[in-house]
Amino acid sequence: MVNLDDIRQRARAELAAADAPEALEAWRLAYLGRRGAVTQILRGLGELALEERRRLGATANDLRAELEGALAGRQTELERVAVAALEAGAIDVTLPGRPSLVGRLHPITQTLQDVLTAFGAMGFQIAEGPEVEWEYYNFDALRIPKHHPARDTMDTFWLDYRRDGERAMLLRTHTSPNQIRFMEKHEPPIRVVVPGRTYRYEATDATHEWMITQVEVLAVDEGITMRHLKWTMAEFVRAIFGEDRPIRFRCDHFPFVEPGAEVAVQCGLCRGEGCRSCGNEGYLEICGAGMVHREILENVGYDADRYTGFAAGFGVERIAMLRHGIEDIRLFYGNDLRFLRQF
Ligand code: FA5
Repeated sequence: MVNLDDIRQRARAELAAADAPEALEAWRLAYLGRRGAVTQILRGLGELALEERRRLGATANDLRAELEGALAGRQTELERVAVAALEAGAIDVTLPGRPSLVGRLHPITQTLQDVLTAFGAMGFQIAEGPEVEWEYYNFDALRIPKHHPARDTMDTFWLDYRRDGERAMLLRTHTSPNQIRFMEKHEPPIRVVVPGRTYRYEATDATHEWMITQVEVLAVDEGITMRHLKWTMAEFVRAIFGEDRPIRFRCDHFPFVEPGAEVAVQCGLCRGEGCRSCGNEGYLEICGAGMVHREILENVGYDADRYTGFAAGFGVERIAMLRHGIEDIRLFYGNDLRFLRQF
């Protein structure tokens, strides 16, 4: 009997001190497990005299039931303490969530969409062409044969692929090959814009990148004249830059147009005074343009006495620079989010 009272007191004290699931399990094994103190007493009953066995057996069974109950009670108590701790603020469910980053369109994509929308409003459809292009479409079909000086103005990334021992494929240096591609597959009347990336093996500076986005514009129909070209360019500049942005239209030479022109828009940073962003010109050239060369119309099988056309090729990065007052074209592809998030 004395022995059982000792066990009870010790067990109660230790249970009250156990404050974690592992401690409770250790306590259970020590008293109620197969080799636990109470179990050992119950096992030893068989060796006692009948009277003694009855008395001790009843008391030991009571003790086991009592300790099992105490264990369950202590378990519930600890769970309640844990829940209370959580509720008391260990997890603050009112904290605002972490904001996820919101993506947006790249400024060049935004400007490109606006450019295409402006031409769409004037009745132009959109087409696309390959970035890896045949030398034929990029140069020869545009009246730029090998050794023509115009090739020097477009330093080129060539592919290793060779045909008849000669390089024949390149990363297109402009979107103009699509004039030929489109006319080969369609008959006039034509009103089409062709957006896309173009590549030039070029030393970069504030106004020159080695990868640029161009938009080719082509209109072929009966009676198309230089006036249509000029009106379309002016209308486009108005749509993108507003009413009061002066444009400059002057002669230029491209082998695939005759006559040829260059269109420039007044620099938004210096308003024509000349600054770093416009190469001190006061104006930034946004496109080359001109009347489609008669020979090209004939080469694609059109009746050049009946049809005439104009073409233009815009640099979208330059347009974005002029719109947003950006000083250096290289910012667009520098992947600096502090810059890109402004748009
Ligand atoms: C051309 O690429 C001609 N294909 C344009 C053309 C089309 C003329 C149809 C006639 C008829 P150019 O090399 O000038 O021409 O480039 C056209 C425009 O692309 C330029 O006005 C400029 O806005 C932009 N551009 C050209 N090279 C770069 C460069 N390295 N960095 C930034 N913009 C450029």
